[in-house]
Amino acid sequence: MDPDGMSDKEWRQVMDAMEEVGPYYERVNWLITFGLVDKWRKRVAALAGPEDVVLEIGSGPGNFTKHLASKTVFALEPSSELSALARQTLDRGRIEFLKGVGESIPLADDSVDKVFCVFSFRDFFDRKTSVEEMRRVLRAGGEAIIVDMAKPPSGPLAKMLEFHVKHMVPPLTRVAVPSVAKERWTRDPYKTFVETYRAYGSTKIYEELLTRSGFEHVGTEYLEMKGATMTRGKKPWKSTS
Ligand SMILES: C[S@@+](CC[C@H](N)C(=O)[O-])C[C@H]1O[C@@H](n2cnc3c(N)ncnc32)[C@H](O)[C@@H]1O
Repeated sequence: MDPDGMSDKEWRQVMDAMEEVGPYYERVNWLITFGLVDKWRKRVAALAGPEDVVLEIGSGPGNFTKHLASKTVFALEPSSELSALARQTLDRGRIEFLKGVGESIPLADDSVDKVFCVFSFRDFFDRKTSVEEMRRVLRAGGEAIIVDMAKPPSGPLAKMLEFHVKHMVPPLTRVAVPSVAKERWTRDPYKTFVETYRAYGSTKIYEELLTRSGFEHVGTEYLEMKGATMTRGKKPWKSTS
């Protein structure tokens, strides 16, 4: 897989993997992050103010969406199956579900205050285009926030995380998913997860993508226990293009 994106065939495999995992997704997440995943999501969701117009790209079953307290939330997701899981539990008055991809956002220019991609950006098939789209829909001064599993370029933490993903995620997944579901799998979806983690290069690549697309104040911070990172960038007040 290419760190900037993936072929149609690879993307279809990622989507199939996500849909197969759907009902057990959160249980697996909880186990592989030792219960930290929702702490990270809550901390990130708190960056959106009550009056902000918020867009979440790759909202899936709604596990991050549910923490967004803003009055207007757009939840953009390509899979109707995963969106259906979110619709079962979320407030449909406040949250508008949109079907589509981050590479072609079905919203007007300069229309949102915050864009969140939480554990989804790695799965996009064309990350450069999606970052340009984020910039287009953000108002001047608005912010893009990308959260993913931590991936430092090198060093002991990088080695530890690689070990975790390669040797701990697969057995933990086997424990979390019931046998009846696993029997239906044509391919272990967590193999795809490991592949996308390996392919994404490092957190630095997210910063470079945002900077190259004209975002300012770009930076990354670790979330609790350094298992995930949050990369942020602001659309300039004074646009150069
Ligand atoms: C790992 S899930 C993350 C779900 C949720 N945001 C969370 O916090 O758990 C990744 C989501 O990204 C979606 N996705 C994959 N490719 C996408 C694309 N090109 N544009 C928008 N969403 C995409 C998948 O369908 C999936 O729902």
